[in-house]
This record gives sequence, structure tokens and C-alpha cells, in this order.
Amino acid sequence: MTQPFPDNVYLSGPMAPSGIECDAPDLVVEGELPADLRGVYFRNGPDPLYPPREGDEYHWFHGDGMIQRFEFADGRVSWKNRWVRTEKYALERAAGQSLFGVLGNPFTADPSVAEEHYNTANTHIVWHGHRLLALMEGTIAVELEPDSLTTVGNFDYDGQIDGPITAHPKFDHASGEMVFFGNQAKGPFSEFLRLNVADKTGRLIKNEMIEAPFASFVHDFFVTEKYVVFPVYPLAFNLDRALQGGIPMAWEPDRGTHFGVMPRNGTADDVVWHTMDPRWSFHMVNAWDEGDAIKVDVCASNASQFAPKLDGTMASVSEGVQPLLRRWTIDIGGSTNSVAEEMLDDLSGEFPRTDDRFMTRQHRHTWLVGDETGGSKFNRLIHHDMASGARQVWGADKYMFGEPVFAPRSMNAAEAEGYLLMLANDLETSLTELMVFDALDIQSGPRCRANLPVRIPAGFHGTWVGTD
Ligand SMILES: [Fe+2]
Repeated sequence: MTQPFPDNVYLSGPMAPSGIECDAPDLVVEGELPADLRGVYFRNGPDPLYPPREGDEYHWFHGDGMIQRFEFADGRVSWKNRWVRTEKYALERAAGQSLFGVLGNPFTADPSVAEEHYNTANTHIVWHGHRLLALMEGTIAVELEPDSLTTVGNFDYDGQIDGPITAHPKFDHASGEMVFFGNQAKGPFSEFLRLNVADKTGRLIKNEMIEAPFASFVHDFFVTEKYVVFPVYPLAFNLDRALQGGIPMAWEPDRGTHFGVMPRNGTADDVVWHTMDPRWSFHMVNAWDEGDAIKVDVCASNASQFAPKLDGTMASVSEGVQPLLRRWTIDIGGSTNSVAEEMLDDLSGEFPRTDDRFMTRQHRHTWLVGDETGGSKFNRLIHHDMASGARQVWGADKYMFGEPVFAPRSMNAAEAEGYLLMLANDLETSLTELMVFDALDIQSGPRCRANLPVRIPAGFHGTWVGTD
């Protein structure tokens, strides 16, 4: 029997667990669904089946991965959601309670799972090599059947990868390749990053081990046509701290930020490290080559509140903890190894996306969610036209928005010619709407919305898979 969930911000309001798997064949739609919006929007996010073992201590990143599947076809939109059947999910469901510690903490886990595989599969859901893969950055991928969302099982590239895979692989739409990495690739607290490339069929064709300056929290990385860049921010891991019972991670700005640049056709021996002032970033927007430089648009802050500093205090708001859109220039051909920074917006924002077909190439249009008050409420959708400098903003205080995902009218459509899909939790009704915007006119509000009969917990990342 599932016990009541404790009082925790990540287990209440728009993030409260749903406890349900549903099949809705034909959602109520306000407005008109575009006839040329055909395909499936998949989204992943945490939805814990059982309350944590640690009482009211919990983290958003720990919940069991739940896949939302919205199919747009024949003038209607259907919805299905299923938990990913990870080993964790199966063991805990059989036991009727949580067995793993929050974030895989071995000290609070049930002894029965000491040798078991901790995988939440809750962060991203991607489509590559005709496989649907649920990802979390701590371990390997889980494959699901794309129509039924039935879990196929762990996917390890024919046994060639048994370590972590980032939840933010990059897709080169010219070659069809998926470029990805594993953080702490030689085990927890190791300073090694593993680079992999899978060809368009999903076959592994590259496997390189890169030594970083120190072990850090690396959630995302940058890939251009020519280069791979590994960012190492001073959100550092320390084994001694963990062994002494402390928080294993700390914000250590004195370590600075480091960027390991490797040619995509090179090896680990070719990596050159560049440095800049302390920064923290969960998500980049996109990266591209420009002459002798690598350009990176990124949501980044000057300090992080994700972990305390070495003295146990948190970085203050005045130190610049809100993520702001900015552009970094890594000068490959220059005489110094420093990195330049240009601020692109004064609105705090996160969950940035582009037209995915331009990943690794220069893009023009960026969408993200943010907060006009400088906070982190995610109740505004923001669009930037990087060519004209124009910015559009739409939203309302009653919402908590999720990541916007772009769906082109067709695979041959021009950049940004299509729709933006976004799940919005209405904090007044405690229900969820799937909003559909004209991607270049978000300030007019959604052109239609599919109303969910229940609330979907706020989640992380998603993917559009078009029919044509
Ligand atoms: Fe992420």
C-alpha cells in the first residue's frame, strides 16, 4: 500500500505525483489544431510511485521516469502516459515501497538493493536509430516501444557502454549522428568524461575517454559541425566530503570554469582546455562554428545555489544565481585560451530550445521559459529572434510552464516555420494544458490548447517526432 507523500516542495502543487497511467484517445481541444501538425510529442519527467525512505527529504531529480505521449493525427490529439519499467520501478513496485535512497544514496537504501541498478530514466526522451530512449545522466539508456510505451529494456549499444549517458545528447541532422558523453565515466567522483558517437543507425562508432581538471556536475555539453566542447563548472564533487557524511558537491568558484575542446574527428589526445570566470549552467541553447571560433548560446549564472559553498553557506542572489541567456565565444585560433561572454537578455530563463534541425549549426530562433520578476517561476514563454534582436513574451502568473518544443510543419520547412508545443500547469485549477503556438508569434498566445482531464506533474525534457 502506498503511504501518503510527505510535505516537500517537489512532491506538492504542480510537481505532486500523479499515481496514474492513462489512455485518452481524443482530448478536448479549444481552438483549431493545425492540419499540418502531424507526429508525436514525447516528454519525460519524474513521477515517484512511492514516498521517499528519508521522510520529507526528497529531490525533484529522484522521481520515477514517466513518459507522456501526445499523438497528433487525423485532426485530433491523443494522450498516453507510462512509467519506464526500470529495475528500480520493478523492485519497488513488487515491494510496495521505496527501496532506493533519494538520488541513489546507498546509506539510506534498503539492504536488498545494495547490488541493484539505480536508474530513474526520468530526464529526457530521445529518438535515434529508430529507437526511443529514456535517459538520465547517471547510467545507461532504457528503450521503449514508441507506440505503446512498453519498456523494451536497458540499451547499452551491444554491451559497449556500461556507464553513464548524458540526458542531453546532440543530433547532427546532416549526418544523422548522435553525439553524447558520460560524466564521471570511470565511476562516481572520477574526473573522466567519455565521448561517444552513434551513427544514424544507432551503431557506436566512437569511444574516447577524456581527463577533466576535476570531477564536476556536467549536465549538458556543446557540439558543432567540427568540435565537441566539454564544460567543467566549479560545482565540484569531492569523495572525501562524501565519506565524511557531507554533501558530495560544493560550489567552489575559485576553481574557475574550463572548456575542453576536441575536434569531432579527433581523439582525447587532441583536447585543448580553455578557461573563464566561474559560471554554472544546466542547459545550453545551441553551438556552432564561426570562423576560428566556437559560439555557444547558453542559459548560465555567475554562481550556483545547487550546492553550498565550502563554508557551508549558499551563494547569494547578489552573486548572480539566476540563469540569463548569454553567448560564449571560444577562440580556437587565438593566442589565449580565454572565453569571451556577451549578455543576450536580462530576463531569467531556462529550458531553452531551438528548431532541433539546426542543432550544431547556427540558429536564428530561441525559445525558453522564464520569469519577468527575476525569479524562477517559469510562467512566461520567451522567443528571441537572434537576427533582428526582437523578443516576444507571453504568459500569465497562474501557470507553471514546461520546456517548449518546436515541431516543424514538415521536415523541409524553413527554420521556425511550424509550432511550439508546451505543457502548462494551471495552478488555479490544478489541471494541465498542452498549448500549441505559432512558433514565430507566441505573443498572441496559444492558437489552440488540448485540455488534460488531470494534472501531469511538471517535468523535464521532450522530443517531437514528425510523421513526415
Ligand atoms: Fe536537462
